[in-house]
Amino acid sequence: MTTVVVPAGGLGTRFLPATKALPKEMVPVGDRPAIQWGLEEAVASGVRRAVIVTAPGKELIRAHFAPDEELEKTLEGRGSAELARRIREIGSLCNVEFVEQAQPLGLGHAVLCALPTIKGEPAVSVLLPDDLFSGSPPLLAQLIEAHTWEGCTVLALRRCPKEQISRYGVAAVEGEGPVFRVTDVVEKPAAEDAPSDLALMGRYVLTEDVFTALRTTQPGALGEIQLTDAIREVARGGRVVGVEFTGELLDVGTLDSWLATSVSIVWRDPELGPALRARIAELEASES
Ligand code: G1P
Repeated sequence: MTTVVVPAGGLGTRFLPATKALPKEMVPVGDRPAIQWGLEEAVASGVRRAVIVTAPGKELIRAHFAPDEELEKTLEGRGSAELARRIREIGSLCNVEFVEQAQPLGLGHAVLCALPTIKGEPAVSVLLPDDLFSGSPPLLAQLIEAHTWEGCTVLALRRCPKEQISRYGVAAVEGEGPVFRVTDVVEKPAAEDAPSDLALMGRYVLTEDVFTALRTTQPGALGEIQLTDAIREVARGGRVVGVEFTGELLDVGTLDSWLATSVSIVWRDPELGPALRARIAELEASES
């Protein structure tokens, strides 16, 4: 498994007005943009090539992953060798390529846009940068390992409270876990129609049959071409498993969740954490 597809063409409407001009994937979480956390997880999982599916007007994502020797030199000249090293690292994380999704027609459509760049690969991984993983081993590595054993499409599953389940794709499963056979998946079902409490999180390993299904997948939930609907076809043929993964998944797709995630990340950061804790203590003291 060498390639990860990273859909980053969404409009970021859940994050407006902050994302009017700034791509939502570029909103910082701690000291780096959300999408960088995603690529770092992919690289730590053994991925060597990222295909980022962007939309027109999202040039900042491209700029972020491009090497910037000028900036490195300036930083070195100012005695900031460590910062220069970190900037160099972003430009050389992995081989990053871009594909444009001309219209926001849905996650399934975004993944299909990457198809011409992954011809000949029996399986690719997909990482949604709205879901940020914290833990070890990396979430994508857990899915890739399951794929190595099972040889089929693999989904990331997490138990989800009933009142939140309608935000997600939901799997019908057989078996005891943590690796389940997935018999069906439904995109954003009403709580009473959800086939289980196992929600799909933003990591996938997809085999060729999902791409074949995607070519003819019709718009589904929200009028969009849903990746879940293509996976459904393959699951019904018995070729999908789901992994109830270990570790923490933090959402950065909405303003509320981004705030909570940012606080969690910064809280644990050895450099940034102390200042945040001191400020929170100060605010609490001023309230009482
Ligand atoms: C997408 C998928 C959904 C999945 C979710 C995970 O939905 O369509 O199946 O559960 O990501 O974050 P979105 O968040 O784009 O609405």
